[in-house]
Amino acid sequence: MQKIYLDQASTSFPKSPSVADAVYQYLSGCAVNVGRGGYRAAYSVEEQIFETREQLRRLFHFTSGKGKNVIFTQNITMSLNILLKGILKPGDHVLVTSMEHNAVMRPLVQLTKQGVTFDRIPCDHEGNLLLEKAEALIKPNTRLLVCLHASNVCGTIMPLHEISAFCQRHGLLFILDSAQTAGVFPVDMEELKIDALAFTGHKGLRGPQGIGGFLIQSELAGKMEPLLSGGTGSISHTEEVPAFLPDRFEPGTPNIPGILGLHAALTDLESNSMQETFRHEMKLTEQFIQGILSLDPTETKLRVIGKKDTQNRCAVVSIQTLEVDMARAAFELDDTYGIMTRVGFHCAPSAHQTLGTYPAGTLRFSFGPENTSEEIETAIHALDRITEL
Ligand code: ALA
Repeated sequence: MQKIYLDQASTSFPKSPSVADAVYQYLSGCAVNVGRGGYRAAYSVEEQIFETREQLRRLFHFTSGKGKNVIFTQNITMSLNILLKGILKPGDHVLVTSMEHNAVMRPLVQLTKQGVTFDRIPCDHEGNLLLEKAEALIKPNTRLLVCLHASNVCGTIMPLHEISAFCQRHGLLFILDSAQTAGVFPVDMEELKIDALAFTGHKGLRGPQGIGGFLIQSELAGKMEPLLSGGTGSISHTEEVPAFLPDRFEPGTPNIPGILGLHAALTDLESNSMQETFRHEMKLTEQFIQGILSLDPTETKLRVIGKKDTQNRCAVVSIQTLEVDMARAAFELDDTYGIMTRVGFHCAPSAHQTLGTYPAGTLRFSFGPENTSEEIETAIHALDRITEL
């Protein structure tokens, strides 16, 4: 049976064309460490890592930062943990949206035990931010706003320009979780005055798993206590954590195969049109939503969750099968039709509460640059059969 991968929001597949070879070449060629060895091979890998930092800086238009302001971590969850736990102090208040992923919510809930408080800016039942309600949530101790760029449950995109203006007006730090948009939707750190942007390499950037990071303004980084510390290969005569970037936040041997894989993915990305990829993904999204709506216009057996159009969204669509258990539907999609999806809460219970899909959850379909119109057709046909419409 031909397999159809429609779980791109979880991790992208296939990976960008040059990734596997780049990882293989490094591991099978000369898999040396960086920042440690005093030989040419180590310097050469270090140069490629530096170039990857520069690629990320270009991608997110971070002109006020330098390569050293790009920090590598193992994923966006770790980036958000380092940022939130490094910046926030007891007594600080934080604003989030009601659509956040647990990568933001769990660290914040943990921080409440140390006296940090937070409020959720409400969103409507399609995940659109009701920013006008945020004014009333501002407190004298509100320090930062952290939010995702697009919902991993229903794809709705947050109004970053308006959020940025709000942060400027109230003197708040602005931290962005770009998990669902990096590599697909442009983000301009300068224009949006983003203080720190967290990214992951394995979704829209189409690199390997296990590599992510964050881009951060030097001034903010200087005020943060690192979550982790250890050997960096620099100022090794002391037991103090280096004060300089990126070493301050990059203890231990980095995921070099991951960074080099990401380097290859970013090189591919630079020679492709992000706009065209996005247009393709929106065409598939529209085809899928319209297909579901025409199967069941009264939404008695199938319900599209969130927005039903392609404005301000990414290629993530949640549905509910109202008369068939959704876990059963996901199983049948895979077992009978070879279609891979994700069912449940998608690590975002607050988003499901906002969308009115808690505690049932949803069945999620997400599309990538190599998915095809025929695959979408097959998915619609499969849902038709499974729900016996
Ligand atoms: N956060 C990822 C998802 O939405 C893993 O599936």
